Amino acid sequence: MAEQDEVQRVRERIEELRRLIHYHDYRYYVLNQPEIPDAEYDRLFQELRALEEKYPQLVTPDSPTQRIGGIVADGFAPVEHKVAMLSLDNAYSAEELREFEQRMQRLLPGEVFEYVTEPKIDGLGVALLYEKGVLVRGATRGDGRVGEEVTNNLKTIRTIPLVLRGGLKDLKVLEVRGEVYMGRKAFERLNHQLEDAGEPTFANPRNAAAGSVRQKDSSITARRPLDIFIYQVSYAEPFPFKTHWESLEQLKTAGFKVNPLARLCRDMEAVIRACQELEAKRETLDYDADGVVVKVNPLDQQRRLGATTHHPRWAIAYKFPARQAVTKVLRIEVQVGKTGALTPVAHLQPVEVGGVTVSRASLHNEDEVLRKDVRIGDWVVVERAGDVIPQVAQVILKRRTADVKKFVMPKTCPVCGAAASRPEGEAVTRCTNASCPAQLKERLLHFGSRKAMDIEHLGEAVVDQLVDKGLVRDFADLYHLDVKTLADLERLAEKSAANLYHAIQGSRARGLGRLLYALGIRYVGEKAARVLAQRYGSMDRLLKADEEEIAGIYGIGPTIARSLRQWIAQKENVKLIERLRKAGVTMEEEGAGPEEQPLRGMTLVFTGGLESLTRDEAQELVMRLGGKVTSPVSKKTTYVVVGRDPGSKYDEARRLGVKILDEAAFKKLVGL
Ligand code: IVH
Repeated sequence: MAEQDEVQRVRERIEELRRLIHYHDYRYYVLNQPEIPDAEYDRLFQELRALEEKYPQLVTPDSPTQRIGGIVADGFAPVEHKVAMLSLDNAYSAEELREFEQRMQRLLPGEVFEYVTEPKIDGLGVALLYEKGVLVRGATRGDGRVGEEVTNNLKTIRTIPLVLRGGLKDLKVLEVRGEVYMGRKAFERLNHQLEDAGEPTFANPRNAAAGSVRQKDSSITARRPLDIFIYQVSYAEPFPFKTHWESLEQLKTAGFKVNPLARLCRDMEAVIRACQELEAKRETLDYDADGVVVKVNPLDQQRRLGATTHHPRWAIAYKFPARQAVTKVLRIEVQVGKTGALTPVAHLQPVEVGGVTVSRASLHNEDEVLRKDVRIGDWVVVERAGDVIPQVAQVILKRRTADVKKFVMPKTCPVCGAAASRPEGEAVTRCTNASCPAQLKERLLHFGSRKAMDIEHLGEAVVDQLVDKGLVRDFADLYHLDVKTLADLERLAEKSAANLYHAIQGSRARGLGRLLYALGIRYVGEKAARVLAQRYGSMDRLLKADEEEIAGIYGIGPTIARSLRQWIAQKENVKLIERLRKAGVTMEEEGAGPEEQPLRGMTLVFTGGLESLTRDEAQELVMRLGGKVTSPVSKKTTYVVVGRDPGSKYDEARRLGVKILDEAAFKKLVGL
């Protein structure tokens, strides 16, 4: 009986936590108006996760903890849409919009039409199914009739409510449609990260969004900065609205993200003005919009107008003029990046696209060239989207002549001549020579970049000369350059040479964290480098650490640990470190390392809020002192730190007899 009471109490707390988290997610992600500090939110989340870990029978699919999936599916199950997801007819001018209205007037003589306009987002169309206010299924558009089930992946998108609020939550069934997209800035960031990890990048935000939603491993989707705008109610039981505009309002109340640029227009002339306004705003948006969707507002008129097999008769997409142009591929060259990735680049007859002269376009990788079937001498459509580098959109096959030449990925690196290889199952071909000059140049630039060794004045022109003249063959060579050698470089005056010399010398004392990042080890980003430096304090200790131990560090994980071990296992890398050491480069991180790690071997669990520091600060402190922070309490837990309003971990600690610290005792432990 007592046990049942306990479960009931936990159930109530879990429900309350979920309600709170859903509410704060909505404030944070949809409204952009958080009400509580992040640490407070984390506390709610951790408490919920701990309770669910202890009572797995209380986990439900709509719990916020279920957003971060990790299930590996073989393929995606087909889903038949409740109502077919049709395409849209297109209009390219105000005139064509007026014709669209005239067609409708012929079908419904004597009626007047009111409209809603919305940006047409260039992303991936999806359908979300809710039963009694709970998200039960998410699917891609697929061919319009049958899509793919991607529920777990879509659940990772924070702007998709797992449970609805307001009136719509009581509907027996509700299916909504929307467009998943990736913002332009987020897209640029993602591509940089992929590039740093030596992975293939995406050609544009739409491909990035589609590729992320169609991931087999939803923990990867969870790390992708996806977002969604909901634009339509496609099915509801019972059906509660009279107009499209009303449905958008209700969708907002239910917790969905609806595009704030949607407008209600009383007639076609107002629609045309709204289209022009959006077109003028196009560049300022953080997402790619390729037009405006114009929809008849009263749903009753929509029903009577009906649809063709291809598109509804009550809606049309006004397409913005494409930022495209036609030009000729003069040659395809291969560039070599920092990680040795060979990227084919099309050199084009210069052409103006939306006010910018374009003479090169990235072709990404071998598969992309084959897929688009781009050949040297072809006429192609090039396209610019937002800030993104120009793309070859398609080949104009009709203009292809007999003398076009196929592109062949070289078997050797075009810069150093070493073998190039493309591992099975990967899209990227790489130069296998670690000291390839092209790679070396990119790596030197990274080494000297602001967040790495921060060597001012070490720019592209200097690096090119240093490598081409054979003055620098690895990072360590930088430290042996003297002012005279530098002053002999082209375009480097005596004063700049002296500045560069001092910048290089000054960079020796940056410390282990920056050095680790600067070395450009795959997956070892800025944050991981900092954590490793804090933990080991010195290069020697890090070199001796085993992979499992590294992988166990909070914030590191197996991928980074493996990559680091592989890097260390290569003799030339160890030699490089020795050469750097001899050149006087600091191999330690000040104030870190095991000598000052009184919490080494200890595991701490936090429950409840602390008064004088946030949860993040407390965790960081424990880690820095060599301890580990976990969520569940077990017999192996050294201490449970109990703050204000502790959760169930407190009871658990008492039950298991784990030592309990209050805030004052914790502060004493960490020397505060
Ligand atoms: S309404 C039956 N509204 O464009 C109504 N679609 O070319 C059809 N899209 O598959 C959809 N933004 O993926 C609608 N505000 C918006 C949209 C939008 C983007 C996409 C959607 C659709 C495609 C049709």
